[in-house]
Amino acid sequence: MTRIAVLGAGYVGLTTAACLAHFGHQVICTDVNEERIAALVNGVVPIVEAELPELVREGLSNGLLSFSTDNADAVHGVEFTFLCVPTPQSPSGRADMSYIEAAAREIGPHLARESIVVNKSTVPVGSTKVVERALRRPDVAVLSNPEFLREGSAVHDFLHPDRIVIGAESEASAVRLSALFLRLSAPVVVTDPASAETIKYAANAFLATKVSFINAVAALCEAVGADVRQVALGLGYDRRIGPEFLRPGPGWGGSCFPKDTAALIRIAEDAGYDFGLLAGVVAVNEEQHQRVVAKAVELAGGSVQDRVVGVLGLTFKAGTDDMRNSPAVEIVRHLIRLGAIVKAYDPTVREPVAGLDDVELCQDPYAACEGAVVMVLATEWDEFRWLDFDKVSGLMERPALMDCRNLLEGAMLRRFGFEYKAVGIP
Ligand code: NAD
Ligand code: UDX
Repeated sequence: MTRIAVLGAGYVGLTTAACLAHFGHQVICTDVNEERIAALVNGVVPIVEAELPELVREGLSNGLLSFSTDNADAVHGVEFTFLCVPTPQSPSGRADMSYIEAAAREIGPHLARESIVVNKSTVPVGSTKVVERALRRPDVAVLSNPEFLREGSAVHDFLHPDRIVIGAESEASAVRLSALFLRLSAPVVVTDPASAETIKYAANAFLATKVSFINAVAALCEAVGADVRQVALGLGYDRRIGPEFLRPGPGWGGSCFPKDTAALIRIAEDAGYDFGLLAGVVAVNEEQHQRVVAKAVELAGGSVQDRVVGVLGLTFKAGTDDMRNSPAVEIVRHLIRLGAIVKAYDPTVREPVAGLDDVELCQDPYAACEGAVVMVLATEWDEFRWLDFDKVSGLMERPALMDCRNLLEGAMLRRFGFEYKAVGIP
């Protein structure tokens, strides 16, 4: 059993802490958010994440997982400290390293001799050095161990990774860290810190590229009369391409792709390389938000000014309560700018959303349909498949639906009298 501290109890930190406790390690997880820690101490998980509540309760009941707001105290005597604090986008596009630096400065004097600090946050190349300087502890090795989990399946992804990446100056410390993951069956890529940090950004950039690519192909399909679902199927069977991340939609969003693509563009720029390809990927994504809104307006008869538009889904994808950089929220903002009266429903959103004061937040999907001239299905929640579309049609001013996720069957909707548009489907 190894003693471990995890700083940050968000999607990455809490998942890391709960899974490492599940492996049998003694883990203490901290956060500066006192309310969050108070809830966790009582076994209440403050985020929507499948399997996480069960793992947290398991760790609390067998005593392997504990929570605290005291970073200095938490790192006392531990062999590994994982940094899982935010690295949000700064106004310049670069990753904001202030949370990492503050955490490192705080724990430096309290770390055990020859312990290891692990950067799990997504950080620019050179960040292990930044942490080393902030720690002021030459006896402590700083390693990079980027995290590739997705929100909504964070626990599953942590327990079944495609690979584990470790960036370390010394092989001995890499071996020590890799021993923590012995329970996992995955290739371990041991490399230098700069390469490990670059792998993380490149992976997110590549996945964002794949989604932008299929969204661009969807636009092409609409122009030439092809069906993007068939095209994606035919592409995905090619093992060099693969079927994943070829679902067209309203554009990618979330807490990672937008900030990490922006950061990688800046990292490249700072190093003297113009990453024009990635800038194009971002531009296609911004166009995609506008394309789906334009289609909704078309379905509304050309204008949404002073008319009700119902929006189904606010989170950036299904399976999470996270609305950071959500395309659905972006769509709502566009609609409001066009003068629409927006009613929205999301199964995980119960409280009014900061910054969306003009939106009427509904507690059930049918309330969002009342008086609407068009419905915009923005997030692919499964429950939207099973709506009573007869009822939806009866509640709306006119039955029209923009399916930004290709979730529904157009033929079925048309039988209910809907005008229906999707993405890349003729
Ligand atoms: P998050 O916002 O959900 O959680 C971060 C937590 O850290 C917050 O609860 C915050 O209060 C806490 N915190 C801030 N300063 C702290 C400090 N000094 N000590 C202790 N706690 C502190 O963020 P997240 O989504 O878990 O992301 C964390 C990092 O992991 C980011 O760098 C992100 O890019 C990266 N990452 C995120 C994902 C993802 O899907 N969310 C996946 C891979 C990597
Ligand atoms: C992503 C990476 O997948 C993960 O490896 C990394 O650790 C964190 O960033 P996440 O942000 O949870 O994970 O979401 P992801 O499932 O990758 O989706 C990102 C965005 O792309 C969402 O808006 C999603 O709806 C969109 N998307 C994804 C598509 O539009 N089509 C797809 O085929 C896949």
